[in-house]
Amino acid sequence: MDKTKNFRILKKDYIGCVKLYEDNIVVKRPYYRRSGTFMYENEIKWLKILKDTDIAVELLSYEKNGKDKIIRTRYWGEPITKETLPSDWELQRDHIMNTLKEYNCIHNDIKPVEILVKDGKIRLCDFGWSYEYNTKNPKEWNHLGNNQESDIDCFNNSIKQIMNC
Ligand SMILES: Nc1ncnc2c1ncn2[C@@H]1O[C@H](COP(=O)(O)OP(=O)(O)OP(=O)(O)O)[C@@H](O)[C@H]1O
Ligand SMILES: [Mg+2]
Repeated sequence: MDKTKNFRILKKDYIGCVKLYEDNIVVKRPYYRRSGTFMYENEIKWLKILKDTDIAVELLSYEKNGKDKIIRTRYWGEPITKETLPSDWELQRDHIMNTLKEYNCIHNDIKPVEILVKDGKIRLCDFGWSYEYNTKNPKEWNHLGNNQESDIDCFNNSIKQIMNC
């Protein structure tokens, strides 16, 4: 079905492929060879938990056909840049952090490409590494890019990074 429509590749590597279709639907096909289906199911779990909030991309649908796994979300703009950094980003950051806490969630992998901006409003994507708040990450997650830093530190570091670009 998706093959007949035009798309733009948002990301493609050995981990998976993420495409934006004309109807503003983002289709993520994770390969996750190492972690099996865990990250796929984990991401769906957290997107469902956060579905009534305004801090995460909206989960539209998902399906698994054998090895083929798909997660569809609604397009929420482009990764944050110096040019698109909203003037109230600190307020928005605090709202995101408070909401994550309220829903007992640590994002765990906040970096500039996962901080999306649309019309000056920030949302997060990529909840594959998310975990319960106040819980130590499983030991096997030590390879995580954020070295166990807190979400707010990762967010602030992301803003520093984009300001230096
Ligand atoms: N709903 C969306 N709207 C806009 N951009 C998106 C959306 N979902 C994903 N993207 C963009 O596509 C990129 C890749 O998606 P995502 O981070 O979910 O995949 P991934 O990094 O391959 O996943 P993982 O790290 O869980 O293996 C994101 O960094 C983001 O820039
Ligand atoms: Mg990602």
